[in-house]
Amino acid sequence: MKHAHAKAPGKLYIAGEYAVTEPGHPAVIVAVDRFITVSLSPSSNVYGTICSPQLSSKTLKWKRLGHDLFLEEPIEKTTILLKTIEVTEHFLREKGVTLPYYDITIKSSLDSKDGRKYGLGSSGAVTVATILALLESVEYSLDDEGIFKLAAIIHTQLHSRGSLGDLAAATYTGWIAYYSVDKSWVKEKLADANLISLLECSWPELKIERLPSPKTLKLIVGWTGIPASTETYVKSIEQDREELNYQDFLLQSKKCVTDLIVGLKTNDTQQVFDSIRYNRELLLEMSHAKEIVIETPLLQTLTRIALKYGAASKTSGAGGGDCGIALVNSSVQENEILSEWRASTIEPLSLAVYDKSNL
Ligand code: PMV
Ligand code: MG
Repeated sequence: MKHAHAKAPGKLYIAGEYAVTEPGHPAVIVAVDRFITVSLSPSSNVYGTICSPQLSSKTLKWKRLGHDLFLEEPIEKTTILLKTIEVTEHFLREKGVTLPYYDITIKSSLDSKDGRKYGLGSSGAVTVATILALLESVEYSLDDEGIFKLAAIIHTQLHSRGSLGDLAAATYTGWIAYYSVDKSWVKEKLADANLISLLECSWPELKIERLPSPKTLKLIVGWTGIPASTETYVKSIEQDREELNYQDFLLQSKKCVTDLIVGLKTNDTQQVFDSIRYNRELLLEMSHAKEIVIETPLLQTLTRIALKYGAASKTSGAGGGDCGIALVNSSVQENEILSEWRASTIEPLSLAVYDKSNL
C-alpha cells in the first residue's frame, strides 16, 4: 500500500428532482468546485486512525474484526465512511488484494466555514473520494461506471432513499444526465452475486451521460441559510406513489427533463430555459398535492427575483431550504439578480461547475 490522495466534488440538481428516485427516470445534475478530500497512508500501528473535523474533534482509532470495521469509540456519523471502506476492501479482496491498517484524513470544503450545511451532498462525495483513494493506494483503477456502481452498492446497503444521483455527479463530474438506478434490483443481486460480477454486468434502467456545458449560460447559486433534510422530504412523498396525479408528475417530469437534455445537447438556450421553468412548475404542483413545502418563502423570493430579470430559476434538490439555482445569459442580468438576492438575505455562493476533464 502506498500513500494516496483523492477528491470528489459536491453536486447541485438542475432538474428532475423527486421523479428521479423512480428507476429509469432522468435528472440533470452538475458537480461543483467544492470537495471532500481523502488522504490515506499505511499505519505504523496495529490499528488505523481517522482524522476528520466534520466527524469528530478527536483522532478516531479503528480496527477490523473479521472483515468488519469498528471504532474504539463508536460515532454514528462515521457509518457511511466505515461502510464505504468495508465494501471497497471487500471488492479488492475479491481481486486478491488485502490492505494493512492505514490512517485516513478527510477534509471538506462542502459546508460553510461555521459548519452549516449548504446541501451540496457530502455523503455522496465522501464515498466517492474514499473509494478513489483506496483504489489509488493499491494502484488499481476502475472507470467512472465501475466507481459509480461500487458507490451505489454502498448506498443501497445503507438503505438510502435517494436516487443516488449525487454519486453519479461526484464520479463523472461536469454536467450529467442521470437515469436512476433500480435499487431493489441491486439489493436482490447483492444476495447472490459477488461484487466483481455485479460491477461487470449491465444494470437495468441505469444510464449516465456526460452533457456539454451550456456555452452562453452561467449557473448562479443562492443559499437560503436554512438546512433541509433530503431523507425526510423523500420519505414524505413515498406514500401513494400509485396515485394518478403522482404518476402524471412522473411522466411530465420525464418529458420535461428529456427536453432539457436535448436542449443542452443542441445548445438551444430557449429550450433549456423553458424546461427549467416548467420543471419548477411541476415540482410546485406536486408539492401542493403532497402537502409539502419545497419552495419555502425564501426560495420563492429567490426564484421570483431571478425570473423577473429573465433568468431560468428553481429550487435545487429536495427544497425546503438549502439552495436555489438560476441560469443567466449576461453579466448585467447576473449582477442584478445577485444584488437583489443579497438585499433579501439570500447568500450567493461563489461556486462553479467542476469538470475533471477540463483540467
Ligand atoms: O436536496 P438534494 O440536493 O440532496 O437533492 C435531492 C434530490 C431528490 O430527487 C429529492 C432526492 C434524490 O436523491 O434524488
Ligand atoms: Mg437539499
